[in-house]
Amino acid sequence: MTSDLKSALVTGATSGIGAATVRALAASGRTVLAIARREDRLRDLAEETDCACLVADVRDLDAIASKIDAFAPDIIVNNAGVGHGIDGLEHATSEMIKEAVEINVIAPMQIAALALAGMRERGKGHIVNIGSIAGLHTLVSAVYGGTKGAVHLMSQNLRFELSGSGLRVTEICPGRVSTEFYQAAAGDKDRLTQLGQTGIMELQPADIADAILFAVDAPPHVNVATIELLPVEQAVGGTRIEPIAPRQ
Ligand SMILES: NC(=O)c1ccc[n+]([C@@H]2O[C@H](COP(=O)([O-])OP(=O)(O)OC[C@H]3O[C@@H](n4cnc5c(N)ncnc54)[C@H](OP(=O)(O)O)[C@@H]3O)[C@@H](O)[C@H]2O)c1
Repeated sequence: MTSDLKSALVTGATSGIGAATVRALAASGRTVLAIARREDRLRDLAEETDCACLVADVRDLDAIASKIDAFAPDIIVNNAGVGHGIDGLEHATSEMIKEAVEINVIAPMQIAALALAGMRERGKGHIVNIGSIAGLHTLVSAVYGGTKGAVHLMSQNLRFELSGSGLRVTEICPGRVSTEFYQAAAGDKDRLTQLGQTGIMELQPADIADAILFAVDAPPHVNVATIELLPVEQAVGGTRIEPIAPRQ
């Protein structure tokens, strides 16, 4: 650990990017509070990393508020997220749309809001929001891209609100990462098989955790504002005339 940010709260810690981030932050010598709903997985992670745990839905603000007061995190990693609406807005139910906004947008905003007063008092703090390339570019994801677009502008505006305070805001925008994300987002097995077959070398959760550590370990005068990470074989743009052959 090269910064004076010694404690971190990570949401969505039971799989993928969140679990890798807990491992990386703990390995860097920080005290970590891991939050998610699946208790058995949190227990395993605690055994492995010595992190503290809170079994909670990110929408349960009361549970999270009291933990933030007690734990006083220097770093918040707003990572929990869902890929609802992957088949298009036309096929998304009202419940899916509501959940996507609550989990991907409202919860990170509320959790950051809860932590900021303590961070200002202590004169240090770092909010890390996990966005997506879907929040920066046009893809086929009105629901998901809409929520991640909100995360992008929330991060940009919060950085501006906090300028002069010494507190930092980083947004990490990954492309395709190999996690359980599509498993959770896909409605059925066939759709999952289809979504799972990218044929490319995807990013690994540890690649995103490395980017987060780079941002939090930056010298205090450096704010790593936005990091966009893509697999080499994924690019955002228009239509390619020649299809590329997947790497063997
Ligand atoms: N995978 C990708 O290609 C990709 C690309 C760009 C951005 N992202 C973003 O990266 C973040 C992490 O996703 P991932 O790829 O690591 O997916 P993942 O493996 O499905 O992990 C999602 C995590 O979020 C937690 N979660 C979901 N809803 C929650 C809720 N209501 N309350 C508390 N925790 C909740 C899940 O834990 P429980 O179910 O145990 O609560 C799980 O730990 C998300 O914000 C996602 O949008 C992913």
